[in-house]
Amino acid sequence: METVLSGIRPTGNLHLGNYFGAVRSFVKLQDEYECFFFIADWHSLTTHPRPDNIRQSVKTILAEYLACGIDPEKATIYVQSDVREVAELYLYLNMNAYLGELERVTSFKDKVRKQPDNINAGLLTYPSLMAADILIHKANRVPVGKDQEQNMEMARKFARRFNTIYGVEYFPEPASFHLADRAVKVPGLDGSGKMGKSEGNAIYLIDDEKTIRKKVMKAVTDSGPTIPNAEKPEPVANLFAMMEIVSTKDTYDHFNDKYNACEIRYGDLKKQLAEDINAFCAPIRKRIADITADDAYIDKVARTGADKASENAAHTINDVRRIIGFRP
Ligand code: TYM
Repeated sequence: METVLSGIRPTGNLHLGNYFGAVRSFVKLQDEYECFFFIADWHSLTTHPRPDNIRQSVKTILAEYLACGIDPEKATIYVQSDVREVAELYLYLNMNAYLGELERVTSFKDKVRKQPDNINAGLLTYPSLMAADILIHKANRVPVGKDQEQNMEMARKFARRFNTIYGVEYFPEPASFHLADRAVKVPGLDGSGKMGKSEGNAIYLIDDEKTIRKKVMKAVTDSGPTIPNAEKPEPVANLFAMMEIVSTKDTYDHFNDKYNACEIRYGDLKKQLAEDINAFCAPIRKRIADITADDAYIDKVARTGADKASENAAHTINDVRRIIGFRP
């Protein structure tokens, strides 16, 4: 059976980008495949969080995953740092990862520009750790958003390289997975680019109705089209892209027709969009509150997941050690 794996860094709360980029696909796949979903707490160390901070964020994200419908009876849910075999595979992959290719990764170059005081080796080798996350379970499909495409390329490259160096067909090449025919990019509503925590434009699954409305009403627009059927400039296209994700087709078509006829009233569109986002988030928000209150349950899920993931990871590491020439 094919294996599906996905992960997320525990930095704050889940936002609509995380949900529609990755979590939603995962929830759909968990019925059919062997599934692993993990919290990438080692990855988050690149920003040097405090211990309390890590503990809290991991717990928050675990509760939010569960609230989104990831089912511990079907999928293995675990915390990366509970599975030490990942760190061993990371070491092996790093031996075959070259400085030039790591330095060329766009997200690394962005970090170099944005935080010149903290360009650590963890940031540079981020793609090797991500590849280790994926390859440790020999995953075939990886639900991710568009922003992870380059990291996925690297993971495939490291898998191929390992196989070639040792003359084996051991690691499958992991494919990115999306429900639609192309990768999802949930836009920000602040004019350009994607929704993200570090972009400061995220709508979180736990946001209450008022917060959602405030964020949506603030979205950047323009003075409206003057030529029928005009192409939408990015800020407006982003609003429509969001509507396509959370609203019904009828709603989308209604506002799209208004736009094309130069009769659009952005205030109406935003009100509708805020309502639809809230309708989507409300039940999840309620489940997040219920699950967050149940520490014992969260702890049990993490422990059970750690055992299952470690067992699977140990098999891979034993094989890899043998292939490399170490004692299994
Ligand atoms: P992270 O924590 O930034 O995001 C988690 C998932 O959410 C998706 N995502 C989005 N998708 C569409 N539109 C958006 N605006 C948007 N924002 C976030 C991301 O694509 C991702 O799928 N490196 C990963 C975590 C990771 C991982 C892995 C993922 C570590 N190891 C192994 C898969 C497999 C990351 O930083 O995602």
